[in-house]
Amino acid sequence: MGAKYELRGKVAVITLDNPPVNGLGWDTRREFADGIDRAMADPAVVGVVVTGAGRAFSGGADIKEFGSPKAAAEPNLLSLIRQVEDAPKPVVAAIHTVCMGGGLELALGCHYRIAAPGTSVALPEVKIGLVPGAGGTQRLPRVLGVETATNFIVSGEPVKAEKLAALPGQKLFDAIEAGDLLAAACKLAAEKAGQPLPRVRDLKVSHPNADGYFGFARNTVKAMSKNFPAPLKCVDAVEASVKRKFDDGLAYEREIFLGLMLTPECKALRHAFFGERAASKIPDVPEDTPQRKIEKLAVIGAGTMGGGITMNFLNAGLPVVMLEMTQDALDRGLATIRKNYEAQVKKGKLAQDKLDARMALLSTTLNYADIAQADMVIEAVFEEMGVKEKVFKTLDEVMKPGAILATNTSTLDVNKIAAFTKRPQDVVGTHFFSPANVMKLLEVVRGEKTAKDVLATVMALAKKIRKTAVVSGVCDGFIGNRMIEQYSRQAGFLLEEGCTPEQVDKAIERWGMAMGPFRMGDLAGNDIGWAIRKRRYLEKPNMRYSQTADRLCELGRYGQKTGAGWYDYQAGRRDAIPSQVVVEMIERHRAELGITPRKIGDEEIVHRLVYSLVNEAAKILEEGIASKASDIDMVYLTGYGFPLFRGGPMCYADQQGLFNVVHAMKKFAANPHDDAAFWQPAPLLARLAAEGKSFT
Ligand code: NAI
Repeated sequence: MGAKYELRGKVAVITLDNPPVNGLGWDTRREFADGIDRAMADPAVVGVVVTGAGRAFSGGADIKEFGSPKAAAEPNLLSLIRQVEDAPKPVVAAIHTVCMGGGLELALGCHYRIAAPGTSVALPEVKIGLVPGAGGTQRLPRVLGVETATNFIVSGEPVKAEKLAALPGQKLFDAIEAGDLLAAACKLAAEKAGQPLPRVRDLKVSHPNADGYFGFARNTVKAMSKNFPAPLKCVDAVEASVKRKFDDGLAYEREIFLGLMLTPECKALRHAFFGERAASKIPDVPEDTPQRKIEKLAVIGAGTMGGGITMNFLNAGLPVVMLEMTQDALDRGLATIRKNYEAQVKKGKLAQDKLDARMALLSTTLNYADIAQADMVIEAVFEEMGVKEKVFKTLDEVMKPGAILATNTSTLDVNKIAAFTKRPQDVVGTHFFSPANVMKLLEVVRGEKTAKDVLATVMALAKKIRKTAVVSGVCDGFIGNRMIEQYSRQAGFLLEEGCTPEQVDKAIERWGMAMGPFRMGDLAGNDIGWAIRKRRYLEKPNMRYSQTADRLCELGRYGQKTGAGWYDYQAGRRDAIPSQVVVEMIERHRAELGITPRKIGDEEIVHRLVYSLVNEAAKILEEGIASKASDIDMVYLTGYGFPLFRGGPMCYADQQGLFNVVHAMKKFAANPHDDAAFWQPAPLLARLAAEGKSFT
């Protein structure tokens, strides 16, 4: 693993070889540097070709090394690039498949670049809160022009090599080679031997109206990247390529890079980047666990969730049979799916022939015999144990052996559901979020008896339908909803003590949540929480909660669907209008409780809401319901509108310092109108805080 060296006639070929994407880890860098030295020292060698083994030229930095001392150890990427750029013999980059980040920066250090068509080219550093750190912001404007380079670096999105090569005046690629890439590169290296060698750093870069352009770019980027510092810094760095000497620009880029590395936003983005990858790894389910074949699916229940779930599989090209109780329900479900696709076609997001292809994958039935051969069935019927029992007993009778039996239940015990069958090892929870065809999150609920190959299969399937899947153990509410219950309780207490719904929503939305708890309640329907509370608090009579929300529901104010909830709504509009009726209802309720209202600041609102998530999450982690803190963050980032730039509740708590989090909780516990018992820091949290440690 590293870089291979071989001779092709008079040309040395150095092949980056560090699967899966030839990340530029320390071993690779060192062997690459040795290869360049060897080629320069060998009088028989006239030139060098650099390429990548397997399915990439290079994907850039080796993410396995990220944050470790090895990442910056010499030879670092800047040193390699200097070595190549100053080499006395021509160095040609033979670029194919993937050329990103540090991989592209290395290529820009080479004297010539030839690319295969179809190569994905990008400087994606901005996506983890950084600017390119090895000269990308200084060299790219010199070969693509200022404006193209700015767009490319600020977006971080991949562009196909042939598209870049077609830009007038571009100097990024010397050629696009559809034939034998390596042969073409070797030929070029041999031809250029002994000639003066072009270096990107020596190219001129300018803009006819630099100040005007960069001012405009800054305004545009600022508006689009609120809360994220990196995109604006990308503009600063590109500006330096125009206004400073090359070496000064390079130093400035480095300075920005190192500064960004320390920002909370960059830490949050990196945490999310690694959290996404880590989520698919289950500690006791090895990556080579065999998987079951999933080629045909069945979905039971064509309601809100069944329809959305079905669309995910149709989108991924997998056939689905939907089963319902009545033809009417099937027709309605089918019509909704079609309508959703048609809306996408209208918006230009989906081609008509794709719509037809997807609908062709869908069939419907009223008869269990028609789904018996499905490889996996997902149940999304009414949320009642009795109904689930009937469905799972029937599934147990009819489904072929080895079929995966999944339930979309959001509140029921998956172990009990599994026990309705004689094959509990095949039963798993797949908890989708509404709208199921849109939301990224999928909680995969692992029952006591769920087989490892079932889990491995469902995690792989989740990837296929582009979900972020997080494994949760069985408990009331699983990871996400169990935490949100505490958050909602706090929101209720805040009303009792003096806040209005608008004040709470505004405070947490300014902090970054996509939607405050009361606007969220109105969107989801307050009656759902009401029904859950009636059941839950019967079971847990000692759990204190604010009854303000019950009073709201007693007024028939269920939310947007009834035109009134915590807010008023005008027909056909979603704008939340503060409601005098609600404010008066809250005041009456407060008076009944004998509470004198007080003014509550934004910081208290935010900390009570977010730390309630954190404390419950610490329990979830300690109980093993979640296997790692980053899983909990992924649930909140992808399913609950938690702000990405804060990295999730656990990442946020770590950044605040767990000592401070615990300290705040002790203060909240002393509030006579709050729930002192809840605010006792979870044992794991207390321990980590005492030891000066963090969750992540
Ligand atoms: P829904 O009421 O929109 O749809 C349920 C559908 O199941 C109806 O079309 C009904 O005719 C059908 N059905 C009922 N009993 C059946 C049976 N025995 N056989 C075949 N079909 C039957 O309900 P929704 O919202 O789609 O919820 C379904 C499941 O998803 C529930 O377990 C719910 O807790 C869960 N869930 C709901 C979420 C939501 O936001 N609505 C989010 C996550 C999970």
